[in-house]
Amino acid sequence: MALVTWSDKYSMQIKEIDDQHKVLVGMINELHDAMKQAKSKEKSLEIINKMAEYTQFHFSTEEKYMQRFDYPDFKKHKHEHEKFVEKVVNFKKDYENGKAGISYDILNFLKEWLVKHIQQTDKKYAPLFIEKGVK
Ligand SMILES: [Fe+2]
Ligand SMILES: [Fe+2]
Repeated sequence: MALVTWSDKYSMQIKEIDDQHKVLVGMINELHDAMKQAKSKEKSLEIINKMAEYTQFHFSTEEKYMQRFDYPDFKKHKHEHEKFVEKVVNFKKDYENGKAGISYDILNFLKEWLVKHIQQTDKKYAPLFIEKGVK
């Protein structure tokens, strides 16, 4: 069973953003599968790298629009992104040098952070993005 299941309650009613969030959900599930199936370190690292890269791409998409539309909470929102990227990058380093493994601790952190960030932080920009024509 997947660790995270996409639900309509996560939708912003903005396809571009929803599609990116779905990719992130998919990557967390991929990492969960890699742990359950005891995939090689190489394979897991590939997923972690892909996730770190895509997360930064997704955040830059949101930040681009927030800046373009003068979103008032931009700074606070960006700060949440930065803290998360830092956490992922640190985990990646620890995993690479054998200080950390893939555990439910890290998987649940990723899952809970994403779901909470979507529902509490991302949702706040949705009306503005929609008004400005983001689809
Ligand atoms: Fe965000
Ligand atoms: Fe987001």
